[in-house]
Amino acid sequence: MAAKSKILVIGGTGYIGKFIVKASAETGHPTFVLVRDNTLSHPEKSKLVESFKSFGVTLLYGDLTDHDSLVKAIKQVDVVISALGGQQIDDQVKIIAAIKEAGNIKRFLPSEFGLDVDHHNAVEPVSSFFEKKVKIRRAIEAERIPYTYITSNLFAGHFLPNLLQQNVTTPPRDKVVILGDGNVKGVYVIEEDVATYTIKAVEDPRTLNKTVYVRPPANILTFNELVSLWEYKINSTLDKIYIPDDQLLKSIQESPFPDNFMLALRHSFLVKGDCNYEIDPSFGVEASKLYSEVKYTTVDNYLNAFV
Ligand SMILES: NC(=O)c1ccc[n+]([C@@H]2O[C@H](COP(=O)([O-])OP(=O)(O)OC[C@H]3O[C@@H](n4cnc5c(N)ncnc54)[C@H](OP(=O)(O)O)[C@@H]3O)[C@@H](O)[C@H]2O)c1
Repeated sequence: MAAKSKILVIGGTGYIGKFIVKASAETGHPTFVLVRDNTLSHPEKSKLVESFKSFGVTLLYGDLTDHDSLVKAIKQVDVVISALGGQQIDDQVKIIAAIKEAGNIKRFLPSEFGLDVDHHNAVEPVSSFFEKKVKIRRAIEAERIPYTYITSNLFAGHFLPNLLQQNVTTPPRDKVVILGDGNVKGVYVIEEDVATYTIKAVEDPRTLNKTVYVRPPANILTFNELVSLWEYKINSTLDKIYIPDDQLLKSIQESPFPDNFMLALRHSFLVKGDCNYEIDPSFGVEASKLYSEVKYTTVDNYLNAFV
């Protein structure tokens, strides 16, 4: 059997990065993480880095802004996964330059892990943010670097613990705000499953130069379906406050950052249906069909933790 690809995760100490590092190491890929020196002085992150060592991950010290450290790290692996955060999307041009110089990379997965930025109806300020990811896609393609884009839709851990309500940390027990008519389908994916599908895709020839859409069928739900599921679990009926599209757009324009960003993101997938762009086989594949053996966590099961 061919040896498993060596994987470098840049941004492995971040929110989604840590799940990707774990999935990579657990599936037997020699796994490397680029770690910044000052991350080790951060109490939580230093514990995370220690835990990486315990499952056999190799730490490579470096920084996005240090070209030589990037090239040196990249030369040791076959696959680069970027899980850099929203603030560092533009800076991925530095990874592209380092991959070009190193000349050995079989697959690059840039930091995506959201909606399909080439096909959306998002308004500002989200559309400008998506545009940054689009620019990185085009730069990768222009340099002819083999790629896979992971369109994993909505992280369950980000959106479901408060049932997508703004500025609260627990799910609603008496009333719920519904953007639009609540009949638009969203796709919620548990972070561990995003990581599992991502690692499965890295050396799969079917995902080469393709977008991988993660749409586990049981997790494609309208907001009204999500609310009904929650009501059933708590055995209670919530008061429903519907916010029509024009009122939502006005709130987006009038709210300061980051509220405007969070509202515009919800507008994109809850009102405009941006999780459900039709997959064209010439550039896209669906993860739960490709990897039907993955026993993903359903939203139904996930919500039980919050009852
Ligand atoms: N679908 C969804 O629901 C959803 C939700 C949130 C995010 N996302 C997407 O997921 C992706 C990752 O976001 P995230 O929130 O997981 O990121 P994050 O938590 O902000 O993590 C950022 C990572 O980048 C590293 N980093 C920052 N500056 C660096 C530098 N100069 N050199 C090297 N490493 C550097 C950080 O390292 P340190 O630990 O050293 O700081 C950290 O590991 C983004 O594309 C984002 O848009 C999707």
